[in-house]
Amino acid sequence: MTVILAADDFDLTEEAPAKINLALHVTGQRADGYHLLDMLVTFARHGDRLGFRASARDEFSLSGRFSPLLAEESAGGNLVLKARDLLRQAAHDAGFEAPPVHIHLEKNLPVASGIGGGSADAAATLRALTRLWGLSLPSDTITAIALRLGADVPMCLVSRPLIARGIGESIELLPDFPSFAMVLGNPLVGVSTPEVFRLLGRKDNPPFALSWQAKSGRMQWIETINGLRNDLEPPARTLCTQIATLSQLIDSQGALTTRMSGSGATCFGLFDNIEQATAAAVSLHSLRPDWYFQATETIAGGT
Ligand code: C5P
Repeated sequence: MTVILAADDFDLTEEAPAKINLALHVTGQRADGYHLLDMLVTFARHGDRLGFRASARDEFSLSGRFSPLLAEESAGGNLVLKARDLLRQAAHDAGFEAPPVHIHLEKNLPVASGIGGGSADAAATLRALTRLWGLSLPSDTITAIALRLGADVPMCLVSRPLIARGIGESIELLPDFPSFAMVLGNPLVGVSTPEVFRLLGRKDNPPFALSWQAKSGRMQWIETINGLRNDLEPPARTLCTQIATLSQLIDSQGALTTRMSGSGATCFGLFDNIEQATAAAVSLHSLRPDWYFQATETIAGGT
């Protein structure tokens, strides 16, 4: 008999919130080819969930709507296992035990979709195993491991509203940033991040000129966000024609802002409140039952 596990069946659970790029400006390129970015980032309450428990040997299991895709591609799964292995190595180097562990990934987020699923899973693994193994490693060591796993992993470690610069390693927290009601939409077509970067027309776009003050309210932030862009959206739209339709559908539900996150194809709409976001998700689902729509709220700064 096959037992289907869920994250809640485990001793320790950890959330892996979806990462939302409210804005992303490409401002330059490093000698190694990585692009310099200014990113306004927040995190959704909706995300993947992971479960952890001590085990006689290392194990990894999957469940959730998007787990079949991962089993095929194993991209996000591999990032979880890479995070486990790199943290274990650092633990051993510092004289800690890092015994075998069963990790379960409940994959609720679409794969390769610009909302950091794999990065969020890797960051959640670093946070949870630090607790499970009782590690006290310098935060610099954990951040360095996170950056080795991917440019978005350090910000997913924090999972709070922030501005990230460089390739994502330079992080400024926004403790007064508000929570937003949001709809996430995805046409369930994966978009390749390197391909999107390759198709970029300009790599020296203006950086953020932010007019935000620490105590800006929700509507002031919406105005600020509306004045910013995602520079990866035009090249992603040429690779994935469904993005234009998706964006227009979300917009038609009365969103205050509609934009693509990361390198796509996920688009988000910001709404006045969760009731409106929920109604929009229901309506979008009836228009395109084959796509992914999810109403959620983002995590406020300082929580
Ligand atoms: O860091 P991550 O593995 O998510 O990046 C995937 C790919 O996206 C990189 O190999 C690189 O081609 C591109 N990328 C980039 N500049 C960034 C982040 C990613 O060119 N700042």
